[in-house]
Amino acid sequence: MIQQIEQYLEEVQNFNATDLKDVEAFRIKFLGKKGILNQLFSEFKNVPNNEKKLFGQKINQLKQTATEKVQSLKENLENSLEEQGSQLDLTRPGYPVEIGSRHPISIVKNQIIDIFKNIGFNVSEGPEIEDDWHNFTALNLPEYHPARDMQDTFFLQQNPDWLLRTHTSSVQTRYMEAHQPPIRTISPGRVYRNEDISARSHCIFHQVEGLYIDKGVSFADLKQTLLYFTKEMFGKSKIRLRPSYFPFTEPSAEVDIYWGLETETDKRITKGTGWLEIMGAGMVDPNVLKNMNIDPEEYTGFAFGMGIERIAMLLYQIPDIRMFYENDLRFLNQFKPII
Ligand code: DAH
Repeated sequence: MIQQIEQYLEEVQNFNATDLKDVEAFRIKFLGKKGILNQLFSEFKNVPNNEKKLFGQKINQLKQTATEKVQSLKENLENSLEEQGSQLDLTRPGYPVEIGSRHPISIVKNQIIDIFKNIGFNVSEGPEIEDDWHNFTALNLPEYHPARDMQDTFFLQQNPDWLLRTHTSSVQTRYMEAHQPPIRTISPGRVYRNEDISARSHCIFHQVEGLYIDKGVSFADLKQTLLYFTKEMFGKSKIRLRPSYFPFTEPSAEVDIYWGLETETDKRITKGTGWLEIMGAGMVDPNVLKNMNIDPEEYTGFAFGMGIERIAMLLYQIPDIRMFYENDLRFLNQFKPII
């Protein structure tokens, strides 16, 4: 009997496995319900008394060795499985992460800001709910001035002195109120007009206003600044300034860029002329400077204002202004950055 146990002991010690299944078979063989160890234990009563002690010691040793063997083999095999699992190819590309897109209005606004930042303009903002003074009167548009009708205004019912700003020129007056020249600022923002909504116009849209005031600022400075802008923004290097009228600038101009007549689209959007109007501009009217306590004898300046939607529509060939506000993902997804 003892000899038999010694043999089992040797078998257990020498046992090795490369597979968890073999380990399990080994465990059942020795430690299972009907396994060798249970059989040996049941033999115990038949063992002569003088051998009982040694027999007992031996089967306990066998049990311990077998249990330890099963445990250590299991651990080793499981660890090596994990290692295999970690032999991942870390150079493989990861799963793509869905990224969002900026709204085209924001893309174009940021481009405009960057271009003017490069030549020393800062960014300023003002309130969308404005008072009459900052939106009209201070800009040389006193009450009953006929030019007020050019911009159909939303007034606040409770107090008609308050309105939704009709242009970002209102930020000019706020900025001049708070800062002395030299002033070089651009003011992007949302504006409101009581207009019918169509493919070409909306009651909410966005503008960027520019204002430059210092000693000796001339019309030539305005022209060169705008030329620099159109080159950077559109890659077009021909502009023309047509005489126009704005109450807050004198002289005033409408700025056109030469877009070209190469494609059918060029012909369509320029109505066959090759020219496109992109903004209004002019020399800040001395009355506006006076209203803001800036001495027009000492300082001169220029201002300009442009619609962001209009520029985005040109750049991206967007046919209908309403697309900007409908939040249709099929439209917005087209502005995802390519990475
Ligand atoms: N505020 C004008 C508009 O909304 C645009 C404009 C024209 C702004 C001439 C200016 C300017 O600063 O000088 O139609």
